[in-house]
Order: sequence, then structure tokens, then C-alpha cells
Amino acid sequence: MVINFICWPSIKLAWILALLLNLLMMIQVHGQPPSSGFISIDCGLRNSSSYNDSATGLRFDPDGGFVEGGMRKQISQEFMANATNEQQKTLRSFPNGSRNCYTLPSTIGKKYLLRAIFTYGNYDGLNKTLDGSPFLFGLHIGVNFWEAVNLTSIKPSTMVWKEVLTVAPSNSVSVCLVNFGSGIPFISALELRPLEDTMYPFFNTSVSISLYSRYRLGNVTDLITRYPTDNYDRFWQNHATEYPWMDINTTNKVETLPGNNLFNIPSVIMQDALTLHDMNKSGLIDYSTAHPNIDTKSLQLLPIFHFAEINGSNPNRRFDIYSAGELLFSDFSPSRFQVDSLYQNGRFLHNPNASFLLKKTGTSTLPPLINAQEVYFLVRMDNLTTDTKDVNYMKEVKNHYNLTRINWKGDPCSPREYSWEGLTCDYSKSNQNPTIVSVNLSASGLKGGLAVSFMNMVSLENLDLSHNNLTGAIPDYRLNSLKILNLSNNQLVGPIPDSILRRFQAGLLDLRLEGNPVCSKFKDTYCSNKRKNTIQTMVIAVMVPVVLVSLLVLMCIIRKFCWGGKSDHEDYAMYEEETSLHVDLRRFTYVELKLITNDFQSIIGKGGFGIVYHGNLENGDEVAVKVLMETSIAESTDFLPEVETLSKVHHKNLVTLKGYCQNKKCLALIYDFMSRGNLQQLIRGGDDYSLNWQQRLHIALDAAQGLEYLHESCTPSIVHRDVKTPNILLDKNLVGIISDFGLSRAFNDAHTHISTVAAGTLGYLDPEYHATFQLTVKTDVYSFGIVLLEIITGQPPVLMEPQTFHLPNWVRHKIAMGNIHDIVDKRLLDQYDASSLQSVVELAMNCVENASIDRPTMAEVVSRLKELLPVVSSGKLSSSASTSSMNPMDAEIRRQFQFTISGVSNEENSFRSGYNGGMSALIPLSGR
Ligand SMILES: *[C@@H]1O[C@H](CO)[C@@H](O)[C@H](O)[C@H]1NC(C)=O
Ligand SMILES: *[C@@H]1O[C@H](CO)[C@@H](O)[C@H](O)[C@H]1NC(C)=O
Ligand SMILES: *[C@@H]1O[C@H](CO)[C@@H](O)[C@H](O)[C@H]1NC(C)=O
Ligand SMILES: *[C@@H]1O[C@H](CO)[C@@H](O)[C@H](O)[C@H]1NC(C)=O
Ligand SMILES: *[C@@H]1O[C@H](CO)[C@@H](O)[C@H](O)[C@H]1NC(C)=O
Ligand SMILES: *[C@@H]1O[C@H](CO)[C@@H](O)[C@H](O)[C@H]1NC(C)=O
Repeated sequence: MVINFICWPSIKLAWILALLLNLLMMIQVHGQPPSSGFISIDCGLRNSSSYNDSATGLRFDPDGGFVEGGMRKQISQEFMANATNEQQKTLRSFPNGSRNCYTLPSTIGKKYLLRAIFTYGNYDGLNKTLDGSPFLFGLHIGVNFWEAVNLTSIKPSTMVWKEVLTVAPSNSVSVCLVNFGSGIPFISALELRPLEDTMYPFFNTSVSISLYSRYRLGNVTDLITRYPTDNYDRFWQNHATEYPWMDINTTNKVETLPGNNLFNIPSVIMQDALTLHDMNKSGLIDYSTAHPNIDTKSLQLLPIFHFAEINGSNPNRRFDIYSAGELLFSDFSPSRFQVDSLYQNGRFLHNPNASFLLKKTGTSTLPPLINAQEVYFLVRMDNLTTDTKDVNYMKEVKNHYNLTRINWKGDPCSPREYSWEGLTCDYSKSNQNPTIVSVNLSASGLKGGLAVSFMNMVSLENLDLSHNNLTGAIPDYRLNSLKILNLSNNQLVGPIPDSILRRFQAGLLDLRLEGNPVCSKFKDTYCSNKRKNTIQTMVIAVMVPVVLVSLLVLMCIIRKFCWGGKSDHEDYAMYEEETSLHVDLRRFTYVELKLITNDFQSIIGKGGFGIVYHGNLENGDEVAVKVLMETSIAESTDFLPEVETLSKVHHKNLVTLKGYCQNKKCLALIYDFMSRGNLQQLIRGGDDYSLNWQQRLHIALDAAQGLEYLHESCTPSIVHRDVKTPNILLDKNLVGIISDFGLSRAFNDAHTHISTVAAGTLGYLDPEYHATFQLTVKTDVYSFGIVLLEIITGQPPVLMEPQTFHLPNWVRHKIAMGNIHDIVDKRLLDQYDASSLQSVVELAMNCVENASIDRPTMAEVVSRLKELLPVVSSGKLSSSASTSSMNPMDAEIRRQFQFTISGVSNEENSFRSGYNGGMSALIPLSGR
């Protein structure tokens, strides 16, 4: 499962953005014609100017600005006269290159209908569709396979169209034509239509749906109904009617219930329907929408039926709906003059003949009817695009050198078999976008300066620009991961920038400059084409500045290159395959860890899965290095989730991951060091230091804010699952920081999720989770309640003396016994604010309600804690006597607690969603 996190910097910002978006959308809805945002491209148009289509009134543009390469063609004269629209007359064909792409501007995350139209028209005079041989080519939507266009045995004048509903992955959507070796790909028109976000809730960034068929039934003359009848310019085909079928129609408007905006079917389309002739007694409408040129067997279909009763009287019409013999919906009765759309939520079906059956039920007096139907099939969008930054840098390089390489089209690395020639990409991290590690543009006729874009590519390790005509100086740029830079045999002049020289001298860069004017002045090894022994180079370079730092460097180098010749590779190589890290973090080697931790000298704790060491980074920053030693590496299941989660979340109350080490020798996480240890140590440690009331509340608020961020600001929400005092760390200013994300999980719907993986720590476990394995954000709220009680009482979550008590029960017991002040940590020496005590205890007890539905959200917890803090901060610490007899508020609290103790847990509803959720549900959208 690929989970992509998006965490908003803060709730407030999210709200403001949402508001702004709403405003913008309102402006759009009210201020613009329905066709706004349409992109209509007439491919191969010779005229370089746009025109308005006579039938739709839509403006069509020439395709020059959206594509590179290809040839403009015109259908043959004999078909020209019968062409039904202007777009059919011209096309662009792509005899060269295995993949050619159109790139259309879009809004990231928005839903679109994208349609590609093909009319062969015998443009090449070769009768390709009718010569008996297969004629087909492929279509990609972005970097994923969409569909094959199979034109075998199709009449040359036929217009074939392919439609996909997809979410824009970035600010552009690309469509690529792929040559299968069975005919030259071509395209006649390309259309992009924005949809509402609420429409067709079956597709998202990882799943698109492609149109299989879309029919409107009834006596309709137009072969295709589209814009302006349909605001979204869907193509509705008509369906020829013959006995025993019968068409009926109405002039009454067919309404869509307000708020139902899943399909927005125009009333006109629903005003016609197909039913059975009265003479026919079978009561069956049996039909197939299969096409011989589409191999339906391998497809997963999603049918959507649109019904409306359009008979004037008050008819009794009930029927069952089957797909390939399977009953989908039973005893359905359409509503009068109102759209009912039936679909199974996100469930895709196997139906090799795309056949459907509507069958009258026993009690029905009228035969079935149908007004419209759509069938889609599943298109998986699993393949990842190349890292966006790398893509942009490569585009800059392409423009900089005016490169027109035939296969430099579409995404540089993805899909793998179409990656750009001369690039090597790293696909090893399965959840991570591929990155470019090597660029070979040797002898490519490059002219001009060295493109700085190369220097910006963070993953680039090997750059070969030898044997070109590069001129000028080498730009002074901080290099990222470049290990080999071959600039030999160009026209480059000096000086060589420090950034490069230093890396070279440290042995981190293999630089080649021979055959450049710069080498007439400098005579270093990089100017010699007889490569000297690498070791020697390095030893010379390191011997000169005899300082400690360079000795350390030497140590590293010798380790890496002499003995470790492979060791560095080994250090990185293993686990690459299993690695599913999607992170942008520093990666440490074992050797570096050893240096940082001073040979693992100082142990500062034992974490979730190993030992935690103290360390110092090169820049002096103190870090905690959490190491999983070799023996347990294989069993490690916590490591990847923790790195992935931590690298995406950034909040002042969540621990910051500085880097990680993952290879054969070590598995480790490097965090900011928290000098005050964890909350458990501070609460229950020795008596030498005790937190005061105000500090305690501040720490509680810190932890609550960290959790609130995970729950509310991350999409999908993250459930920590192991909130406890040892996982709340404290920095030197006693700011509470949440750590240990080893068990955390992200959920699209964090309010209900079934998990069978045991989670959490004894004493902190949500009883509801325990009973139902239903994991929600409220699971963390429960654990946080226990933490809050610990903060107040100084007691552990489970008390052993004099008898075993769960902390919440101990608190209830004490309060029931008479005095709320008895629960307060004795180390506070009665220095606390009595009124805030009551509120905090109330809040904590609220968090540990048995039924999750009764617990507050983390956002509510935060706001309640915030309300308490100003009271405390004002410094009015009353010294309330624990001997004072019961005051009115004690009575109040006891009453409330009686309530909660007897509270019965409310089962929350849970249902699964997702395209393969496997559960089908009848969803009559009109909600009759
Ligand atoms: C064009 O249309 C006319 C009239 O419908 C028809 O007779 C003719 O055969 C068509 N031409 C082609 C090439 O299909
Ligand atoms: C294409 O088909 C037409 C009619 O079917 C025929 O007249 C013509 O010779 C064919 N052309 C080629 C190149 O086969
Ligand atoms: C179809 O509609 C046309 C008018 O648009 C009408 O003349 C014709 O009789 C109708 N056919 C049927 C079968 O209802
Ligand atoms: C609508 O239905 C009536 C009969 O009810 C028929 O006479 C008429 O031709 C139909 N119109 C269309 C456009 O089908
Ligand atoms: C393409 O269409 C032809 C003609 O209907 C069919 O025989 C063939 O199997 C199809 N090819 C593919 C790959 O679907
Ligand atoms: C994804 O990429 C792989 C390798 O590049 C390719 O084989 C596969 O067909 C692609 N999948 C899709 C759905 O395009």
C-alpha cells in the first residue's frame, strides 16, 4: 500500500486555504461558463490558428504547443467530404520514437475527463485498418498503461474515442502514444474536461477509470450527445432500438435530488428510456455492450445504471439487475421523474461479455426500463513519476542545449522500458519516485556553458559530458552527491571552483578535465588522462593539511577505498531491494555512526527496538542514535514505518529525524538529542528534581499538540498507537516532544479501521480497541488520558501496591473516597492551582472513557488545556490544603464520574471502502 502523507503546517492555515478554495470555487461556479477549463486540441491542424467548432461552439486549438515531434497528416480525400466534424480531417502521426507524448496543463489533484479521438481516414493511403493485419498501438496516461487502441478491421471513416477519468498528478497531465510495432500511432483530437471533485467517487491518484461504454437509451437521433447538452462534455452514444424493445419519452423535467452531485446527468438524457413492448411477456431486457476490438476478459468493469420512471401515471415497476448472471441489485423500483443512479461502491466486476440483464420481479406489473448506462474499467496508476525536481532539471538541460533526442519525451525514468537514453535511474526504493543517478551526454554536440541544473540534481552521481563543445568556466556550485564528473575534451577554461576542487582533494570526486584549455594552466592529476592510483591521489591530498579533521577523513577514505573497496558499496548495497523508504533524509554509513557515537561509547537508553547512544554530528549538534544491532535486523518491522512517518511529519512537538543508516552493517535512526530524557523518568525518577504544576501542564499541552498534528493535519491521519510517558521526550527547555513512531500507522479514514496487529503498551491500551481491534485516533486519546493522569498523580499506569489498580480506577476510587486532592502527586507539595486541577482531572477522565465516541478529539484536548494554562501562567498558585473538607466541586466531579463508570460502550460503525473492498452495497443515490 502506498501512503502519501501531506501534513499541513497548521490547522489554521488549512482552514484558511479551505476557505479560499471554497471562495474560488464559488467564483468559478457562478462567474464562468460551464466550458471554462476545457482544453480542446485538433491534432495535426495545418492552420496555426484556433477555430470554434460549429456543433459544440467549443474553441479548438492546434496541437503545436502541446507536443514535440510527429508529422501533420490529413485524411484521404474520399473521406474528407463525409467527415462529421473538423477534428476528424487532420491528425498527427508518430513514425519515429517508441513513445510520444502530449502534455496538457492541469491543476494538481483535480479530477478530469480526458478523451483521445482517432479517425484513420486512410491518411497514408495504405488501407492499414482493412489490410488484414493487426493495427494497434498503446496509450499511456502519464507513466501508466491506459488502453490499447485497436483499429484492426475498423472502417477508415470511423471515429474511435478513448476516455479516462483521472486525477491530475501535477500541474500537467500527459498522454503518450506508444508504438507496439503493429502500425504507426496517430491521434486526431485530444480533449480535457474538468469534473467536480464530488463526481465519480471511484477514482483517485492511484486508480483511474477508463470508459468502456456510455449509452443513453430511447429514441434519439443524434449518434452522440455531448456538450452543450452535457456540461462535462461526456459522449453519450445512442443505442439502436428494435423489437421487442420500445422507446418511451417524456417532456417533464427529470430532477436530481439536491446535494446529489455524483454524476450530474442532464435531464434531457433521462427524459428518454428503453423498455419492453407490451406484447413481450418475458419481462427481460438483456443486453451486452461488448466490442470485438476490446479484450474484455482481462478487464475489471464498473457499471453505473441511471434510471428514472418517466411514465405519467403511478406505475408499479420493479426489477432485478444482473451483471453476467450475478445479481447486483434486487427489487429496484425507479422514482418518478427523479434520477436514481445505481452502482456498487468502488467494486469492479469480472464480466467477459459486458452483459447485463434487467428482470421484472413477480409483483411488478410493468416491464423494466433503463434511461442511461455507463461502464468503466479499472486503470491502475501504480507507476511513479520521476522525482519532480529531477524532471525539471532535465527539462532545463534539454532546453539549455536545445536537445531534440527522439526518445527524450514524457517522463525521464518511467515506465522503465521508455526511460530516456543516456540516463540511469534508481528505482530501488519501491515507494519512492525514481531519481536520476547518471547522465551520459558524451559526444552529443553540446555547445555553450555547463548547465548548472546538473549541479542541482541531488541524486546525480555520475555525469559524463566529455567530447562536446562546452565553453566558459565551470560554475562554482555546491555539489550534492556527484562522484564522477567527466568534462574531458571540451573547451572549458579555469579557474576550477573551490567547491569542486575540495571534493576532488578529499577523494570524494573523480574529476576528469584533460583536453580542456584549463589544463594548460593547471597540471593536476585531473588533467592527465593516465589515471593515477586513486589511493595515491588521496594520500597526497590528505597529507598536506595535517589537522585532526583530515585524519578522520583519511580514516574514512582508507576504510572505504582500501579495505572497504567494496565495503562502502556493501555498506549501502544490502537492503536496497526491500527498502521502501520514501524519504529525503541524510543516509549515514556504519563508519560515520561509529565516528559520531565515539565508537558507541555512551548509552542513553533502550528504545523500542534497540539501544540508544549519544552522539555528536560534525557540526557539533547532539544526536541520539537508535541502533538495531545485526542480530535483530532481520526481524525489524518497526524500522521502515518509523522512518517513513518521521520523514514526513514536521512539528515542534514531534521528534525530528536527522537521518538514518540502513545496510548490512546497521539499521539506525539518528534523532535530535533530548537532554532532559523522557517524561516517565522525570515524573517517577528520583526526588532530586520534580516538575512543578505549570511545567506539567505545559508538557501535557506539548504532547497534545503533537498528537493533534498527527491526527488532524496529516492526510491520511496518523495514529501513533503507543502514546506513553517514556515516549514523551523533553528538550533542554522542558518542551515535550513525542517520539517512537514504530507502531504508528496512517489511515485514509482514521476514524475507523480494523487492525489485527497488537499495539500499545500495557496500562495504556484502549479497552475498545482491545475488544474490537478497531483502531482510531481515539485510541491515542485514551493513551493520552493515562499520560495526563500520570502527570497529575505521579503514579504509574498500573499500581501494584497495596493492590493492583488501573490508574483511572485508582483515581475514581480516591475521588469516591472523598477528596480529589488526594490524587495529586505528593512531590508537588500542594503547590498547584486547585481550579485547574479539577478541569485537568475532568479532561483526563474524559479521555479515558470506555467508549471512544465519548472521548474528546485531540483538538478539543488542546483547546481545553490551552484554556487552563493562562490561569496557571498568571502565577496564582494557591496552596490548597489537602485537609480541607469536601468542597462543592468535589461533589460535582463525583457525580460526573459515576456517569462515566457506568457508561456503556457505543459500538462505532465501521465499513471498509476502496475499490477492492469486496463489500457490495446497494446505494440508491436519490435516497428514496
Ligand atoms: C459519403 O457519404 C455518402 C452519402 O451518405 C455515401 O454515399 C458515400 O459512400 C460516403 N463516402 C464514403 C467514402 O464513405
Ligand atoms: C485501398 O483500398 C481501396 C479500396 O478498398 C483500393 O482501391 C486501393 O487500391 C487500396 N490501396 C492499397 C494501397 O492497398
Ligand atoms: C422517434 O422519434 C421521431 C421523432 O423524433 C418519431 O418520428 C418516430 O416515430 C419515433 N420513433 C419511435 C419508434 O418512437
Ligand atoms: C414520444 O412518445 C410519443 C408517444 O408517447 C411518440 O408519439 C413520440 O414520437 C415520441 N417522441 C420521440 C422524440 O420519441
Ligand atoms: C483487435 O481487434 C481484432 C478485430 O476485432 C481482434 O481480432 C483482435 O483480437 C484485437 N486485438 C487485441 C490485442 O485486442
Ligand atoms: C510500470 O512500469 C513497469 C516497468 O517500467 C512496466 O513494466 C509496467 O507495464 C508499468 N505499469 C503500468 C501500469 O504502466
